[in-house]
Amino acid sequence: MSSFKNLRIVDNFYQTSLFYPMPTMLIATLSPSGATSLGAYSLCFPYYIAGKGYYAMLLECRNSSNTAQNILRTGVCAINFLEDDKKLFKETVRLGFPGERCEEKMDDCFLEMEDGQAGAADAEKKARPRVLKDAFQVLECSWDDTLEDAFEDRSRVGQLEGVEPPYRNFNGITSKFGAHFILRIDAILMKERQYGAIVNGVRAGDFPRIPVDYGYRDSKSFWYTKFRRPLGVSVPAKPGMDLSAVRYAAERIDPEVLFTDEACEALRKIPRVFLKTALAGIAEQAKAMGLPRVDGKVVVDAAVLAVVNDKRNAEKKRG
Ligand SMILES: Cc1cc2nc3c(=O)[nH]c(=O)nc-3n(C[C@H](O)[C@H](O)[C@H](O)COP(=O)(O)O)c2cc1C
Repeated sequence: MSSFKNLRIVDNFYQTSLFYPMPTMLIATLSPSGATSLGAYSLCFPYYIAGKGYYAMLLECRNSSNTAQNILRTGVCAINFLEDDKKLFKETVRLGFPGERCEEKMDDCFLEMEDGQAGAADAEKKARPRVLKDAFQVLECSWDDTLEDAFEDRSRVGQLEGVEPPYRNFNGITSKFGAHFILRIDAILMKERQYGAIVNGVRAGDFPRIPVDYGYRDSKSFWYTKFRRPLGVSVPAKPGMDLSAVRYAAERIDPEVLFTDEACEALRKIPRVFLKTALAGIAEQAKAMGLPRVDGKVVVDAAVLAVVNDKRNAEKKRG
C-alpha cells in the first residue's frame, strides 16, 4: 500500500497543491510613461544556463499584468532580489496585489532606485528600467522575442480581459491569461559583499539573507519563511579517477597537446563525465597562450594548468 495520498492537480498547482519553495523577486519594467514600475514574482528561473551562446531566465506571469504588458511593449526588464526584511517583504506583497496601474502602485513605493549598467553596453541605447538600490543582486534582461516568433505578440498589447488563441508554447502569450518570457541576461549586478564571496570563495556568513516563499495558500495570507544561515555539506570524497584513465583520455584529446603526468595527476579529481570537456577546454586555452612547442606540441604541465585556472577566476572578476 502506498504511503501517499494522491492529490488532485488544479490550476496553480505549485501553490494550491504543493509546498514549493521559491525565491522572491521584484521585476522592474518600463511603464507607458517611461517610469520604472515594480511587480512581485517568484516563477522566474534560469532557462539557458550553458551551451546556447547566451544565458537566459524564464518568467511565468499573468498576461494582463503590468509586467507582461510592459515587457511585450518594451522588451526589457530588471530582476531584483531583496534580502529578508519584514518591511521589504510587506512592500513586496503590496507590489504583488493585482489590478493597480503602474502609477497607482508606484506612487506609494518607498524603495529607492538607481540606474542599471546594461544600457552602457547596448548598441541601440534603448531605455531600461532602473534597479533597486536595496537589492543584493539584479539581472538586467531583454526579452528574446525571436524564439517562437513571439515578436508577433507585441501587437496584442492592451488585451487585458483575456487573449484569444492562437497561443505559443513557451515564449510570448501562452494561454488566455498566461504569458512566458525568455529573458536574455544582459548584465548581472552584484553588491560588493556578495561579489567578493563569489570571486574569492564563499563562507556561510557571506550568503545574502534570502527569504523562501510558498505563495498564496488561501485567500488570506501569503506565506514565507525567514532566512536561516546556510550549512555547507561536504561533497563525498570519491577516490579520484585512475591516473592511467586520465592519461588515456588526455593523449587522445588533441594531437597538438601533451599533458604531463603531473597535469594528469591534478585532473584525477574531475568527475569522469566532465573529463573530456575539461581536457578539451584546457587544450584549447593552452594553445591560445602561444607557449613554445616541444617536438611540435604544446605542453600542459601543472604551471600551465594553474594559469588556465587563474584565467577562469579572472573571467568571473571581469566586468
Ligand atoms: C511574492 C509574490 C510572488 C508572486 N509571483 C508571481 C509569479 O511568479 N507569477 C505571477 O503571474 N504572479 C505572481 N505574483 C502576483 C503578481 O505579483 C501580481 O499579479 C501583480 O499584480 C503583478 O504586478 P504587475 O501587474 O505590476 O506586474 C506574485 C505575488 C507575490 C506577492
